Amino acid sequence: MIRDRLDFPPGFLWGTATSAHQVEGGNSNNDWWAFEQQPGAIWHGDRSGQACGWWQDAEADFDLMAALGQNTHRLSVEWSRIEPREGLFDPAALARYREMLAGLRQRGIEPMVTLHHFTTPLWLARQGGWAKAIAIEHFRRFVQHTVASLSDLVRLWCTINEPEIYAAEGYWEGVHAPGRKAPLQAFAVLRNMLLAHAAAYQAIHAVQPNAQVGLVKDVRLFDAANPRSPADRFIAALIDYSFNRLVLRPLASGRLAFPLSLGLKSVPGLAESLDFFGLNYYTRDRVAFGWRPAAAVMQRFPTPGAEIGDSGRFGTYGEIYPEGLYRALQRVASLGKPIYVTEVGLPDADDDQRPRFLLTHLAQVHRAIAEGLPVKGVYYWSLLDNFEWAEGWALRFGLVSFDPVTQERRVRRSGELYAAIARENAITRQMVETYAPECCAQIFPDGRSPDGQPVSQRRCRSVAKSSSDLRMSP
Ligand code: FCB
Repeated sequence: MIRDRLDFPPGFLWGTATSAHQVEGGNSNNDWWAFEQQPGAIWHGDRSGQACGWWQDAEADFDLMAALGQNTHRLSVEWSRIEPREGLFDPAALARYREMLAGLRQRGIEPMVTLHHFTTPLWLARQGGWAKAIAIEHFRRFVQHTVASLSDLVRLWCTINEPEIYAAEGYWEGVHAPGRKAPLQAFAVLRNMLLAHAAAYQAIHAVQPNAQVGLVKDVRLFDAANPRSPADRFIAALIDYSFNRLVLRPLASGRLAFPLSLGLKSVPGLAESLDFFGLNYYTRDRVAFGWRPAAAVMQRFPTPGAEIGDSGRFGTYGEIYPEGLYRALQRVASLGKPIYVTEVGLPDADDDQRPRFLLTHLAQVHRAIAEGLPVKGVYYWSLLDNFEWAEGWALRFGLVSFDPVTQERRVRRSGELYAAIARENAITRQMVETYAPECCAQIFPDGRSPDGQPVSQRRCRSVAKSSSDLRMSP
């Protein structure tokens, strides 16, 4: 039988994700704004500035989401607006968020709200921020107040976005706010965030018993450059341990893993702190052991010859590897909870890769669902180009292009494709033939080419940007 469509389950959620600091504009009371003012902190000296202007008018983009067939949106609330000074909550900020959330609902768009997405109020940053255990209680109180104010409008809550990235980039590599290079602090931050997640889970359920609460984690894959090399396998396992297992294992068992476990083994409530898992997936790395004395012990790079997205300030953004999404879904399914793909996306300014990216990645989500994995929805990162942290405005992830100077928006071809998938709740052969015919044989492997001729199983990728001649990333 020739298969012509990949259907998703009824009620599947199709949406996009954003975060407050990246789209709202004018968030001058948090640590990121302060970080942006430091010379050299952001590529090309960019600033978030007015961002995409959502604080004044998010509603025009909500109209756009609705026009593009999206039935959900993941956004975040900005702690420094809601609690501009310690213990002082701003009713006007909460009123604006109520207006935005109601606006989404009026358009048939179910909101998913993240309570911490990389930014921390200045007053807390001045106390030492997330490196200090006091952050846990501050966060719990903020969550309690915010959820009590918004619970009639929100069912899906994410406590913290990517704690491992926040700790690694902000406190180890120093390329995100607050720009520290202090590995011991990075572990303290990660531990405090896991504890804060457990505390927030309980605080949300105390206020809103029927809430669905999850943690959002980027599962990045680390595969040995040479699978036959024990040294490469060892170094790949080590980085997987520090990036993925340090977060995933405590969520499963309630017990922290070394070195987070020093002085604190188990965390009450952590094992019961998920109603769903929020999976962010972007890329995988090949990992090799560095034998040369002057080289780093661990080397990461895309698979030689693999297709890659646009490059950023730190070199390649990463390998395009759709099967990795399936592997990441399989991995987090072991937690036994419903899964939302809370981010998946590609920097691709000219949009010549994104349509294929969407089709091949969503086909992998379909594969996971067909095998019984409980995936409930997908949030593409992002609706529109926005302030991409240390990369500034240079990396463009949007289904809609956005010009920060003129504020002009233009729906990209990939935005139209995503709309067609969302409306149809399926990937159809016709969509693949229209947007990425080179992928037909991979997505509908029945040997028929778009023009009806038999085809062999060609590799579905472009020859445009490939990693073969890239230098190794550090
Ligand atoms: C994720 C972040 C998100 C965005 C994408 C590209 O790690 O959660 O804010 O920057 O990467």
